[in-house]
Amino acid sequence: MAAVRSAVLPNPEATAALAAALAATAPPGAVVHLQGDLGTGKSTLARAWLRALGVTGPVRSPTYTLVERYPLASGGEALHLDLYRIGDAGELEFLGLDDADARLWLVEWPERGLGALPAPDLEVGLVVLGQGRACRLRFRTAAGDAWVAALDEQRRLRGVPEP
Ligand SMILES: Nc1ncnc2c1ncn2[C@@H]1O[C@H](COP(=O)(O)OP(=O)(O)O)[C@@H](O)[C@H]1O
Ligand SMILES: [Mg+2]
Repeated sequence: MAAVRSAVLPNPEATAALAAALAATAPPGAVVHLQGDLGTGKSTLARAWLRALGVTGPVRSPTYTLVERYPLASGGEALHLDLYRIGDAGELEFLGLDDADARLWLVEWPERGLGALPAPDLEVGLVVLGQGRACRLRFRTAAGDAWVAALDEQRRLRGVPEP
Protein backbone atom coordinates (compact mmCIF):
# COMPACT_ATOMS: atom_id res chain seq x y z
CA MET A 1 0.00 0.00 0.00
CA ALA A 2 1.45 3.30 -1.08
CA ALA A 3 1.29 6.26 1.32
CA VAL A 4 0.15 9.40 -0.49
CA ARG A 5 0.74 13.02 0.44
CA SER A 6 -0.10 16.14 -1.51
CA ALA A 7 0.97 19.75 -1.47
CA VAL A 8 0.20 23.00 -3.24
CA LEU A 9 3.35 24.73 -4.48
CA PRO A 10 2.44 28.36 -5.23
CA ASN A 11 5.89 29.34 -6.57
CA PRO A 12 9.30 27.85 -7.41
CA GLU A 13 10.53 28.56 -3.87
CA ALA A 14 7.83 26.23 -2.53
CA THR A 15 9.01 23.51 -4.90
CA ALA A 16 12.57 24.05 -3.66
CA ALA A 17 11.43 23.88 -0.02
CA LEU A 18 9.68 20.56 -0.69
CA ALA A 19 12.88 19.28 -2.32
CA ALA A 20 14.90 20.27 0.75
CA ALA A 21 12.47 18.47 3.07
CA LEU A 22 12.66 15.33 0.93
CA ALA A 23 16.46 15.55 0.75
CA ALA A 24 16.67 15.81 4.55
CA THR A 25 14.58 12.67 5.09
CA ALA A 26 15.42 10.40 2.11
CA PRO A 27 16.85 6.94 2.82
CA PRO A 28 20.22 6.12 1.26
CA GLY A 29 19.83 4.86 -2.30
CA ALA A 30 16.38 6.42 -2.70
CA VAL A 31 14.89 6.07 -6.18
CA VAL A 32 12.65 9.03 -7.09
CA HIS A 33 10.54 9.25 -10.23
CA LEU A 34 9.57 12.81 -11.22
CA GLN A 35 6.41 12.79 -13.31
CA GLY A 36 4.59 15.62 -15.03
CA ASP A 37 4.38 17.50 -18.32
CA LEU A 38 7.08 19.83 -19.61
CA GLY A 39 7.27 22.92 -17.45
CA THR A 40 5.71 21.50 -14.29
CA GLY A 41 8.90 21.90 -12.25
CA LYS A 42 10.66 18.53 -12.33
CA SER A 43 14.08 20.08 -12.97
CA THR A 44 13.42 22.82 -10.42
CA LEU A 45 12.79 20.13 -7.82
CA ALA A 46 15.83 18.08 -8.85
CA ARG A 47 18.15 21.10 -8.81
CA ALA A 48 16.99 22.21 -5.37
CA TRP A 49 17.37 18.64 -4.06
CA LEU A 50 20.98 18.48 -5.30
CA ARG A 51 21.69 21.90 -3.80
CA ALA A 52 20.27 20.70 -0.47
CA LEU A 53 22.77 17.82 -0.61
CA GLY A 54 25.61 20.30 -0.96
CA VAL A 55 26.13 20.29 -4.75
CA THR A 56 27.55 23.74 -5.49
CA GLY A 57 28.69 23.52 -9.13
CA PRO A 58 26.45 23.82 -12.19
CA VAL A 59 23.43 21.54 -12.34
CA ARG A 60 22.93 20.90 -16.03
CA SER A 61 19.86 19.44 -17.61
CA PRO A 62 20.61 15.86 -18.67
CA THR A 63 18.29 16.19 -21.66
CA TYR A 64 20.95 15.08 -24.16
CA THR A 65 23.37 13.16 -21.93
CA LEU A 66 20.43 11.29 -20.29
CA VAL A 67 22.33 11.28 -16.99
CA GLU A 68 24.41 13.70 -14.91
CA ARG A 69 26.30 12.40 -11.88
CA TYR A 70 27.11 14.37 -8.75
CA PRO A 71 29.62 13.11 -6.16
CA LEU A 72 28.26 13.79 -2.68
CA ALA A 73 30.27 15.03 0.29
CA SER A 74 28.59 12.30 2.36
CA GLY A 75 29.91 9.63 -0.05
CA GLY A 76 28.54 7.97 -3.15
CA GLU A 77 26.88 9.91 -5.92
CA ALA A 78 23.53 11.31 -6.93
CA LEU A 79 22.22 10.50 -10.40
CA HIS A 80 19.96 12.94 -12.23
CA LEU A 81 18.34 11.43 -15.31
CA ASP A 82 16.09 13.01 -17.92
CA LEU A 83 14.77 10.39 -20.32
CA TYR A 84 12.67 12.73 -22.47
CA ARG A 85 14.83 12.07 -25.54
CA ILE A 86 15.67 8.41 -24.97
CA GLY A 87 15.05 6.17 -27.98
CA ASP A 88 14.18 3.06 -26.03
CA ALA A 89 14.73 1.88 -22.49
CA GLY A 90 17.61 -0.37 -23.67
CA GLU A 91 19.79 2.74 -24.08
CA LEU A 92 19.96 2.96 -20.30
CA GLU A 93 22.08 -0.19 -20.16
CA PHE A 94 24.85 1.55 -22.10
CA LEU A 95 25.13 4.27 -19.52
CA GLY A 96 26.59 1.74 -17.09
CA LEU A 97 24.74 3.18 -14.11
CA ASP A 98 25.95 1.59 -10.91
CA ASP A 99 23.03 1.05 -8.58
CA ALA A 100 25.34 0.11 -5.74
CA ASP A 101 27.16 3.44 -5.62
CA ALA A 102 24.08 5.60 -6.23
CA ARG A 103 22.90 7.32 -3.08
CA LEU A 104 20.01 8.93 -4.93
CA TRP A 105 18.20 8.60 -8.26
CA LEU A 106 16.22 11.59 -9.52
CA VAL A 107 14.54 10.56 -12.77
CA GLU A 108 12.59 12.87 -15.08
CA TRP A 109 10.36 11.09 -17.65
CA PRO A 110 10.79 7.71 -15.92
CA GLU A 111 7.93 6.23 -17.94
CA ARG A 112 10.30 6.21 -20.94
CA GLY A 113 12.80 3.99 -19.13
CA LEU A 114 10.42 1.51 -17.57
CA GLY A 115 11.90 -1.95 -17.15
CA ALA A 116 15.44 -0.56 -17.14
CA LEU A 117 15.12 1.57 -14.00
CA PRO A 118 15.06 0.51 -10.36
CA ALA A 119 11.58 0.56 -8.81
CA PRO A 120 10.71 3.91 -7.25
CA ASP A 121 10.62 4.48 -3.49
CA LEU A 122 8.83 7.74 -4.26
CA GLU A 123 6.86 8.99 -7.22
CA VAL A 124 6.42 12.76 -7.40
CA GLY A 125 3.59 13.85 -9.71
CA LEU A 126 3.49 17.54 -10.67
CA VAL A 127 0.69 19.43 -12.43
CA VAL A 128 0.06 23.09 -13.18
CA LEU A 129 -2.40 24.72 -10.74
CA GLY A 130 -3.15 28.35 -11.55
CA GLN A 131 0.12 30.27 -11.41
CA GLY A 132 1.68 27.53 -9.29
CA ARG A 133 1.87 23.74 -9.18
CA ALA A 134 0.21 20.92 -7.30
CA CYS A 135 2.16 17.90 -6.29
CA ARG A 136 1.31 14.36 -5.24
CA LEU A 137 3.83 12.15 -3.47
CA ARG A 138 3.39 8.39 -3.53
CA PHE A 139 5.73 6.44 -1.26
CA ARG A 140 5.88 2.89 -2.52
CA THR A 141 8.45 0.61 -0.89
CA ALA A 142 9.30 -0.35 2.69
CA ALA A 143 12.00 2.33 2.55
CA GLY A 144 9.27 4.68 1.35
CA ASP A 145 7.14 3.88 4.42
CA ALA A 146 9.97 4.93 6.73
CA TRP A 147 10.58 7.98 4.58
CA VAL A 148 7.02 9.29 4.77
CA ALA A 149 7.06 8.81 8.54
CA ALA A 150 10.24 10.89 8.77
CA LEU A 151 8.73 13.54 6.50
CA ASP A 152 5.53 13.74 8.55
CA GLU A 153 7.57 14.05 11.72
CA GLN A 154 9.68 16.82 10.24
CA ARG A 155 6.58 18.76 9.18
CA ARG A 156 5.06 18.27 12.65
CA LEU A 157 8.19 19.60 14.32
CA ARG A 158 8.28 22.59 12.03
CA GLY A 159 4.60 23.27 12.60
CA VAL A 160 3.77 23.17 8.90
CA PRO A 161 0.08 22.32 8.48
CA GLU A 162 -0.77 19.04 6.77
CA PRO A 163 -2.18 19.53 3.29
N1 LIG B 1 5.79 25.70 -7.86
C1 LIG B 1 5.98 26.45 -8.96
N2 LIG B 1 5.14 27.49 -9.23
C2 LIG B 1 5.32 28.25 -10.34
N3 LIG B 1 6.31 28.04 -11.25
C3 LIG B 1 7.17 27.03 -11.03
C4 LIG B 1 7.04 26.19 -9.87
N4 LIG B 1 8.04 25.26 -9.93
C5 LIG B 1 8.74 25.52 -11.05
N5 LIG B 1 8.23 26.56 -11.72
C6 LIG B 1 8.71 27.16 -12.99
O1 LIG B 1 8.29 26.37 -14.07
C7 LIG B 1 9.21 26.48 -15.14
C8 LIG B 1 9.59 25.12 -15.68
O2 LIG B 1 10.30 24.44 -14.66
P1 LIG B 1 11.20 23.16 -14.93
O3 LIG B 1 11.71 22.74 -13.60
O4 LIG B 1 12.19 23.42 -16.01
O5 LIG B 1 10.11 22.10 -15.46
P2 LIG B 1 10.28 20.63 -16.09
O6 LIG B 1 11.64 20.11 -15.70
O7 LIG B 1 9.16 19.84 -15.48
O8 LIG B 1 10.09 20.79 -17.57
C9 LIG B 1 10.40 27.28 -14.60
O9 LIG B 1 10.30 28.60 -15.05
C10 LIG B 1 10.22 27.21 -13.10
O10 LIG B 1 10.75 28.33 -12.43
MG1 LIG C 1 13.14 19.16 -16.88
